[in-house]
Amino acid sequence: MIMRREATGSRDWWRTGVIYQIYPRSFRDGNGDGIGDLFGVIEHLPYLSEMLGIEAIWLSPFYPSPMRDGGYDISDFTNVDPTFGDLATFRSLLTEAHRHGLKVLIDYVPNHTSDQHPWFVASRSARSHPLRDWYIWRDPRPDGSAPNNWVEETGNSVWEWEERTGQYYLHSHYVSQPDLNWRNPSVRAAMIDVLRFWLDLGVDGFRIDVPHLIMKDPQWRDNPPNPHPQANPYDRQHPLFHTQLHVYDRQHPDLHEVYREIRTVLDSYSGEYDHVMMGETEVCAWETWLRYYGQDQDEFHLPFHFQLIETPWQAGAIRSFVETFEQHLPMGAWPNYVLGNHDRPRLATRCGAEAVRIAAMLLLTLRGTPTLYYGEELGMPDVPVTPQQQQDPLGRDPTRTPMLWNAEPHAGFCPPQARPWLPVPSDYRTTNVATQLSAPHSTLNLYRRLVAYRRASEALCTGTYRSIPLSQEGCYAYLREAKGQRVLVALNLSAQEQVVSLSDLREGWVAISTELDRQEAIDPNRLLLRKHEGLLVELRG
Ligand code: GLC
Ligand code: CA
Repeated sequence: MIMRREATGSRDWWRTGVIYQIYPRSFRDGNGDGIGDLFGVIEHLPYLSEMLGIEAIWLSPFYPSPMRDGGYDISDFTNVDPTFGDLATFRSLLTEAHRHGLKVLIDYVPNHTSDQHPWFVASRSARSHPLRDWYIWRDPRPDGSAPNNWVEETGNSVWEWEERTGQYYLHSHYVSQPDLNWRNPSVRAAMIDVLRFWLDLGVDGFRIDVPHLIMKDPQWRDNPPNPHPQANPYDRQHPLFHTQLHVYDRQHPDLHEVYREIRTVLDSYSGEYDHVMMGETEVCAWETWLRYYGQDQDEFHLPFHFQLIETPWQAGAIRSFVETFEQHLPMGAWPNYVLGNHDRPRLATRCGAEAVRIAAMLLLTLRGTPTLYYGEELGMPDVPVTPQQQQDPLGRDPTRTPMLWNAEPHAGFCPPQARPWLPVPSDYRTTNVATQLSAPHSTLNLYRRLVAYRRASEALCTGTYRSIPLSQEGCYAYLREAKGQRVLVALNLSAQEQVVSLSDLREGWVAISTELDRQEAIDPNRLLLRKHEGLLVELRG
């Protein structure tokens, strides 16, 4: 079945459309070297557009990079790494994507560069070099120790001593990723030019990497120790992050002015439709997080909220997060939900295989923009990686393994004679796009059905959200309403059959069950939910 796409053509397409994250190394190898590339993305645009029905792709970095941090260590912001193609390949990708009705968002990494970037090579060459101040260089303390106590991802100091010029430089991530000095106007101008470069080519927006990091305390004060240190079990990137309270190394209010400027640039390109700013904003106090929308909603359209990735898979916990989110949002600010990305364990591994279908229904029926990580539509789990196969020092490879296209060798990710850069799982012959497309009740077909339903439903796209109190533990239900259309979503996250009573609701029609095997009239007073089943019910009257 090919889905008919209704062009939404609306200005604020980003409120209603599904955004699909592609990790370019892992999507599809189009030139046979075992590494995914832009050719492979072009090949599969019809799948994304016609089969899945998403609205926009977001490409993780494809820029020239020594690849110490999966491409987030960039040595040239305005080019394509030869592994992925070249600028001409990217131009064809844009043209083709647009032809298929898809928007293209790309990653923008403002906080740091690779140490191989010519700017840093120049900056580290001499204290007197004009680009010295483009990065953050500081003298040691009088006893020779690092300028302050800030720690990076792994718990080591953010400061790296450079013997040759007798100063430390700051790196919030790996030693090979020096932070740019955004307080220097020339850096700011150069980085804004990077945005213009891609906007001029025709990209439709950006996902901004670690936006909370670009401005630090100008006095470089020590972070206080955390009196109640508690490790975040979902966070593979920052195993020792919790030992300090990160008061001074991030979230300096001066960063908002930068995002206002970036938004102005994006807005200047927004003609018929908006050019969109998404942000990898970290989970933090609501007050701090909400500021990323901008005081006059003049910063991020979609600051990601990652709380769902870190919420235990329990009805009560999920519901309470969604409600808090809804309550905190100021008028006009638009929510968004994320269940997975290239940094965190995949949902099927994190929450169990039985969570996959309910998660699909949740993500695609809540009020807010859904972002879908490639492979989640198949219910792909993390794939174990042996120490010999390991690429990422922080252990994020299992989440970044090749997309599973068909039952051919290497799951059709690369030609049979090539070796995929990360392994495919042993059961790829049963879990892949081709097999699931032909299995009527597959996870992929559930995603397709939900995306298609959502596209056509005013209630789901833009309608209001109201949760319904239920006495059954393990169940979560809510109503979405717009223009007389009422959709009830009832999710049973428990391993027992449950009968819920939604007594003030009248008759309804099950439009989608997560098992894809029920379409029937129901009595909302006695709604039977099988274990791990979710229902989307159209209400009459
Ligand atoms: C973001 C990226 C992650 C990367 C880090 C440093 O968190 O998602 O993959 O390691 O930034 O750029
Ligand atoms: Ca390739």
